[in-house]
Amino acid sequence: MKRPSIIAIDGPAASGKSTIGKLLARKLGYLYLDSGPLYRNRSGQERFFPARQTYLYFDTGAMYRAVTWVALEQGIDVHDEAAITALAEEVEIDVARPTVEDGRQYTVYADGQDVTWQIRRPEVAAQVSIVAAYPGVRRALTAQQRRIGQRGHVVMVGRDIGTVVLPEADLKIFLDASLEERARRRYREMIAQGEETDYEEVLAATRRRDETDSQRETAPLRPADDAVIIDTTGLSVEEVMRRVEALIWPAGG
Ligand code: CDP
Repeated sequence: MKRPSIIAIDGPAASGKSTIGKLLARKLGYLYLDSGPLYRNRSGQERFFPARQTYLYFDTGAMYRAVTWVALEQGIDVHDEAAITALAEEVEIDVARPTVEDGRQYTVYADGQDVTWQIRRPEVAAQVSIVAAYPGVRRALTAQQRRIGQRGHVVMVGRDIGTVVLPEADLKIFLDASLEERARRRYREMIAQGEETDYEEVLAATRRRDETDSQRETAPLRPADDAVIIDTTGLSVEEVMRRVEALIWPAGG
């Protein structure tokens, strides 16, 4: 494939989108070295500074989570569609380069406040699908995502990137895995972060979120017709990366 500029990765919770998205953005950045500005060295020879082409990794789920977190903070009932929609239209969400070295991949701001870790809390995860199902919320956030994506050099991950946000993407990948495997991955992640939870609870929460995301009317979770579906059940991160890379750089091609 020619040098891809827009890559869309969609899939359900804990299917590996963010892990693969981050790795892929980094790899693309290393492989596509642009020739930078011309300079003349001391002996008068002309040289190019190689400038790294950076690819932006953009996690659209963070935006839906940020709206949900602000709603919970302000005591707005997530079932109040009109109030949540008004909030999504008003709140300024920004996803920027990491500002603190604490393991974060990016910093998320809501109205200027750093909410990077708050949006990962279980109470946000439990409500975010309700918020993300409102057409007005999606309209507001999709417009921002499109603006960022259309600049190119981006790996954008979510639920509707290939179908709605960036249907013009050069490559669309849909990552999937069995419900049990995804719940197991999320459970391990939560335990590693020191959360108290049990597997059955995580399994039930993941199933609920899958259902809400796939059954909503606006931009439901589904692979685009031209997406490559990868079932990651039983595969390691390295194995998934190999399959993704083979789509971009086929052997011998
Ligand atoms: O990391 P995980 O897959 O658990 O969730 P996420 O990607 O942060 O997304 C959280 C929720 O936001 C999803 O369950 C969807 O309800 C919603 N979402 C969406 O509707 N559309 C997107 N493009 C991204 C996320």
